[in-house]
Amino acid sequence: MKVLVIGGGGREHALCWALAASPEVTTLYCAPGSPAIAEQAMLVPIAVDDLDELVDFCRREAIDLVMPGPELPLVLGLADRMDRAGIKCFGPSAAAARLEGSKAFMKAFATRHNIPTAGHRDFSKSEAADAKAYIRDKGVPIVIKADGLAAGKGVTVARTMDEALAAVDAAFEGAFGAAGERLVIEDCLEGEEASFFALVDGETVLAFGTAQDHKAVGEGDTGPNTGGMGAYSPAPCMTDALIEQTLAEIIRPTVRGMADEGAAYRGVLYAGLMLTNDGPKLIEFNVRFGDPECQVLMPSLMSDFFPLVLAGANGTLDQKEVRWRPVHTMTVVMAANGYPGSYEKGTDIRGLDVAEAVDGVTIFHAGTTRDGDRVMAAGGRVLNVTAEGETLTEARDRAYQAVDLIDWPQGFYRRDIGWRALGVSA
Ligand code: AMP
Ligand code: GLY
Repeated sequence: MKVLVIGGGGREHALCWALAASPEVTTLYCAPGSPAIAEQAMLVPIAVDDLDELVDFCRREAIDLVMPGPELPLVLGLADRMDRAGIKCFGPSAAAARLEGSKAFMKAFATRHNIPTAGHRDFSKSEAADAKAYIRDKGVPIVIKADGLAAGKGVTVARTMDEALAAVDAAFEGAFGAAGERLVIEDCLEGEEASFFALVDGETVLAFGTAQDHKAVGEGDTGPNTGGMGAYSPAPCMTDALIEQTLAEIIRPTVRGMADEGAAYRGVLYAGLMLTNDGPKLIEFNVRFGDPECQVLMPSLMSDFFPLVLAGANGTLDQKEVRWRPVHTMTVVMAANGYPGSYEKGTDIRGLDVAEAVDGVTIFHAGTTRDGDRVMAAGGRVLNVTAEGETLTEARDRAYQAVDLIDWPQGFYRRDIGWRALGVSA
């Protein structure tokens, strides 16, 4: 089988790593991929949002299955285009990808289907005064979200009234471009956050693991939000009972509801949850794997990943089950100094071979380039140093042992990944 992965970050490195290991995958391509991904896949120089070129490539090469990594091509209609071309794609249609692409859609959908989520209202740009009156009436803390895709930066959890009102002005003045022309204002939920993953084929839901991310750049969850500075799986707070409750109250009603509304959901469904005293509540949906959560899920899989993705695309997930290895995994993100603000590129990274020789360690590359034997940083988030262990403590110790062997003075990382589960801080 010929498979095309779309994307080029650490998540796609992990996807390619898992798919390349399948005996059923004869040729693996990745568009655009990265120099590190070239070890697993043939690189195809097409950007993730160039749908015409991606469809042409799949037709020309008779690709059997497309596995998209990021949300952007899905929101733009990649899966619809592939469907029309007769090419199997494990991702949602543009209509179904609105679960991530429009927070206003997601919230209205959740309300229509009684899915537990924070109370909310949404406001368009011409309703700025109403939005502010609503915030004054509700009081703080309150959460202000840009409606559209804003690379994880469109959310303000406002603790003061000034901050809340400023967030409304910033969005309507264009801080998030078109994504901020509509705002969702929602009640602030309290509790522990966890990520829940499922594979969905339009109808059948297969639970696909749990994880916890670390969004803030600094230790102790301080500083600005990032794409994620580290993750581990499984999330110990997601007990079997909570997993069952999440499936029953959030995931299955969503899949049924989307089908009933004529936008059947196919693909990876990632629910960001807040575990409140009142049960799990939906914070957000993503229509893809998390990054770096994917990097802790793939090494934990015992099942071959490829047949699961194919069954997802074919609508035969009811014939599949997922098996996990009895391990805990952790990934520590190494980022370039300055991230998530401006940072330097092209700095040398040494010691990757010795780091990767640590027992149970795999390093996924989120943003590196190569020049012969030299490996250089080429992004904000650069390396995902991933380790497995019989316990989360062992996974953590191995991950940090590997991190300490990497010689990259222009990079940094959080020392406290896993603190919630391990009950320690940095
Ligand atoms: P999102 O991009 O929607 O995942 O939001 C980013 C982060 O903002 C989440 O991971 C939460 O930490 C926080 N957040 C979002 N919505 C809420 C909410 N209703 N209550 C409390 N925190 C929230
Ligand atoms: N790590 C969070 C995300 O991928 O959305």
